[in-house]
Amino acid sequence: MAEAYPELPANDGRNTSNSAEFPDAPRRAGPLMFGPVAIDPPLLQAPMAGFTNYAYRQIVRQFGGVGLPATEMLCARSFVWQDAQRAEPPERLWGVLDEPRPLAVQIWDNDPQVLAQVGSRLAREFRVSVVDLNFGCPVPRVAQRAQSGSYLLQDPERLGRLVECVVRACHPTPVTAKIRLGCRPEQITCCEVAEAVEQAGAAALTVHGRTARDLFRGQADWERIAAVKAHLRRIPLIGNGDLDSAAKAVAAFRRYPVDGLMIGRAALGRPWLFRQIQAALAGQPIPEEPSAELQRELLLHHFELVVQRFGAEKGTMLMRKYACCYAQGRPGARQFRSQVARVASPADFRNVVARVFPKGRPTACVTQTAEPPNAETERARP
Ligand SMILES: Cc1cc2nc3c(=O)[nH]c(=O)nc-3n(C[C@H](O)[C@H](O)[C@H](O)COP(=O)(O)O)c2cc1C
Repeated sequence: MAEAYPELPANDGRNTSNSAEFPDAPRRAGPLMFGPVAIDPPLLQAPMAGFTNYAYRQIVRQFGGVGLPATEMLCARSFVWQDAQRAEPPERLWGVLDEPRPLAVQIWDNDPQVLAQVGSRLAREFRVSVVDLNFGCPVPRVAQRAQSGSYLLQDPERLGRLVECVVRACHPTPVTAKIRLGCRPEQITCCEVAEAVEQAGAAALTVHGRTARDLFRGQADWERIAAVKAHLRRIPLIGNGDLDSAAKAVAAFRRYPVDGLMIGRAALGRPWLFRQIQAALAGQPIPEEPSAELQRELLLHHFELVVQRFGAEKGTMLMRKYACCYAQGRPGARQFRSQVARVASPADFRNVVARVFPKGRPTACVTQTAEPPNAETERARP
């Protein structure tokens, strides 16, 4: 996919040149209510383990356009264990106490009491806006060894009981669930699970349009996400999977009966994507991508936030993967990836970044990712 790096900063609201407009963007893209919590715009940042920590969330908030940021998933059992050892709160709760709201914290486990206990603490002590339950994780450590995450999709009744327990423990803080279509293509359970989740008192449901067995292969199946809508009477449905441009987000709202969208991978290196989608949904000009120089500053700012928290050595290691996201689609990205994979110190990191995001040099200008909703866009599968 071609990406643009024109010279104007994103999110300044003045940049209309060269921007596509969506004059008849769908009305449905209004604020959502998760119980008492308003999600405005109806755009959710996907929880992503290893990525969506406080540093990333601060950057996403800085650009705006996100209705609900989310933490990485947190193992409820580990939280309880760490607590018993009188250790610090889990690393993944970094920033949660101080961060602006709304904010969702995601937890996983298969024990109703443990989930309820942790959910209740998050709601009361940490005062999070939303407690999200992970029923989509396909990684063996979670789904097979711990029989949690996507493993639970094969038993909608049990899953419903888990949700019910957490809802009761967290009240009035809303509890939401994030699922995949099912465990495997021949066992699609999302509609039964949706009914169980709603009946259990959850405030919203997010569906990633793949099964656990698919991992990230193939395309997200938005027809199956849409089919879930008929099984929900009260709570909003959030669609998730493969949205990587404002055009695809608008197309998703147009074509499918979803109430909100969740964006994950595409916004890791392009945290301004939420703001672009927000503008497109409101029928406003889409802010252009920041210049390469601004992106470089942003990446270095992100680096500083991570190094401040984790120290020079660990921070540099952690930033290797983020830096690859920022470089994606840029000239020299492949070389950058191989170089950044070897950096061991902040000085190395800054040197490698300086080579791919050169300071003050004009940058290649390529096509803006968001397009008007013409026939081409209408065909685009989100
Ligand atoms: C590196 C990585 C980590 C993820 N971690 C989580 C997680 O902690 N909790 C969760 O519910 N989903 C997790 N996911 C799935 C995403 O939330 C999202 O459902 C998926 O990436 C599809 O959305 P996208 O196509 O917009 O990326 C993760 C995905 C990736 C790529």
